[in-house]
Amino acid sequence: MTPLNVLAISGSLRRDSLNTTLLREAERLGPHHRFDHYDGLGRLPHFNEDEEHPAPSAVSDLRRRVQEADAVLIASPEYNASVPGALKNALDWLSRPAGDDGPALALKPVAVVGASPGPFGTVRAQLALRQVLHKMNARVVQQPEFLLFQAHQQFDDDGRLPEDSPAQQLLRAVLDALTQLAASERQQALTGASVH
Ligand SMILES: Cc1cc2nc3c(=O)[nH]c(=O)nc-3n(C[C@H](O)[C@H](O)[C@H](O)COP(=O)(O)O)c2cc1C
Repeated sequence: MTPLNVLAISGSLRRDSLNTTLLREAERLGPHHRFDHYDGLGRLPHFNEDEEHPAPSAVSDLRRRVQEADAVLIASPEYNASVPGALKNALDWLSRPAGDDGPALALKPVAVVGASPGPFGTVRAQLALRQVLHKMNARVVQQPEFLLFQAHQQFDDDGRLPEDSPAQQLLRAVLDALTQLAASERQQALTGASVH
């Protein structure tokens, strides 16, 4: 089986982030996935239309990594019932075309997950994030939804979810859904290419 190249983006800049921990756990669960962990969110300049051309090097690096990935997995905290500013900033950069290329996230298979120490597991942030991704024409996994509430109590000292716990099974199911979505998008692209 050809491994799926997944760009993993955490919406948190925090060293001990629960969401980054979640992405590391996802990487361990997916033997058929090759993860590229993006850690440049904090180095992206604030989006500014005056500074799009030429693109700042941090932006070009992010675009290239999105383009090279078969799929993107975003794990984001909820800040004030919405998407953290640093992640929204990255999405605004990615919504813009670069040269002859269209926006890097357009038609890209994306899955969204999130972890919060609170009781709602990032549900409001995920809704906001899905709205942004929809506008960007990304292909977003709709089911299953993965919301990890009271997340600070869910991981062990190694950052693992309990073996075969419902949370771990659900995370695995998200990865499976992302794999299927990427396969069907690839198939559609091939079919489209042969028709035209
Ligand atoms: C500015 C700010 C706003 C927050 N707003 C929310 C919120 O609306 N909902 C929520 O569940 N947690 C909220 N939190 C708590 C975060 O869920 C918590 O800090 C979480 O650990 C952040 O994710 P991370 O561990 O991946 O960094 C907020 C935290 C900060 C710093």
